[in-house]
Amino acid sequence: MGFPKNFLWGGATAANQLEGAYNVAGKGLSVSDAMPGGKDRFKIIGSESFDWTIDPEKYVYPNHKGIDHYHHFKEDIALFAEMGFKCYRFSIAWTRIFPNGDELEPNEAGLKFYEELIDECLKYNIEPVVTISHYEMPLHLAKVYGGWKNRQLVEFYERFSDTVLTRFHKKVKYWMTFNEINSSLHFPALSQGMVASSGANEAQNIFQGLHHQFVASSLSVKKAHELNPDIKVGCMILYATTYSYDCDPTNQLASLSRNQEFNYFCADVQVRGEYPHYTKRMFKERNVQPLEMCEGDLTLLKNYPVDYIGFSYYLSTVECITAATADVTEGNILGGVKNPFLSSSEWGWQIDPVGLRITLNELYGRYQKPLFIVENGLGAKDVVDENGEIQDTYRIDYLSQHIKEMEKAIEYDGVDLMGYTPWGCIDLVSASTGEMAKRYGFIYVDLNDKIEGSGKRIPKQSFTWYKNVIASNGENL
Ligand code: BG6
Repeated sequence: MGFPKNFLWGGATAANQLEGAYNVAGKGLSVSDAMPGGKDRFKIIGSESFDWTIDPEKYVYPNHKGIDHYHHFKEDIALFAEMGFKCYRFSIAWTRIFPNGDELEPNEAGLKFYEELIDECLKYNIEPVVTISHYEMPLHLAKVYGGWKNRQLVEFYERFSDTVLTRFHKKVKYWMTFNEINSSLHFPALSQGMVASSGANEAQNIFQGLHHQFVASSLSVKKAHELNPDIKVGCMILYATTYSYDCDPTNQLASLSRNQEFNYFCADVQVRGEYPHYTKRMFKERNVQPLEMCEGDLTLLKNYPVDYIGFSYYLSTVECITAATADVTEGNILGGVKNPFLSSSEWGWQIDPVGLRITLNELYGRYQKPLFIVENGLGAKDVVDENGEIQDTYRIDYLSQHIKEMEKAIEYDGVDLMGYTPWGCIDLVSASTGEMAKRYGFIYVDLNDKIEGSGKRIPKQSFTWYKNVIASNGENL
């Protein structure tokens, strides 16, 4: 048995992390264009003094150039096709379509670029999977409107989403509305355009912003289904399986709360179409007053839930509130207590393939809707050897262990899994650290952290491995 015949094997990227060409063909500035490169980027953006000023004298901005996929997408997609990709997940840069976000008319040059990119995928029978917004809202909307806490953002997003859905609905079947929508609970700059000076430190603003995003997401689902009832629109959740540190009921309860608040809250609203029962407790604990809602919001959420659950999975975390001495570790904006049973990546992310099977069971058990793993992978420092080759066996190990667990979830646990798109199928700029050195790809790109180098694409050992995985529909690991 194993993987279903039509399983969507592929890879995933995001416009701001690979396209470059940040000011080309009418593109406006996005929040990610204002993010300095380097390990401290989250600290800088999270600081009280940060006001979105771009200061090239002081910082490097790797996203401005990325891997110049904008000018090399044909060559890159040809390599994806060589691996046998069935699908390719990418995002549309909002600022290529609406440079400031509040214009009434779209920028045709931006639409044309994505049209060509989509056509290039279709040429190889690669199904495009589009994230409408992936960590790159227009900077203008963050600076002038204060980000997603402002209700006007719903109208701006709706115009953007309607524009791309209308233009591409005949060519693109799979969509997602917001990348890792729940990430704002830890770091609202990227997904909500809110920094300290615009109220990012107040839970009230974050939840108000999320409400606006939920409404915007339902409007996308509504529009997509009106255009074509066969279109599937998903949510996209940053999922980090959370274990209790031990069987102390206090820690068990803490891990339950963390799972509810981080892993499930957004999906509960977007999939079930209503605010979950623990909202009251969560708001009370964070001193969040009842959210401002317009008439019809709750009906809209109820009537237009998502069709599938897209999620990213890299690691698991441990919840512990009783043992103050427990070791701590890092993890994409999550961090937490170290799990003694797991090893970690060079960036401290705890590697947990079995956690993926647990996640698949938890999500499917809760929602009974199709799941799509739209990100997974190992960030590592790759070395080009004397023969010009990259032997990334550690990446192959990581991915094959995760794929084995996926297969068990499908075959033994009965989970409905649509597809798998490992993150950064071609090396790109890291979201959390702005480095090129943290590589995920099957394809090496010769650029350093300052985006210096030839930009040459070199297939890694994992390239051939993944090609065989896809060709054998997951059998040859
Ligand atoms: C996810 C994001 O959180 O993780 C991606 O959706 C990101 O944008 C990926 O790149 C890996 O994280 P990082 O920080 O290693 O790039």
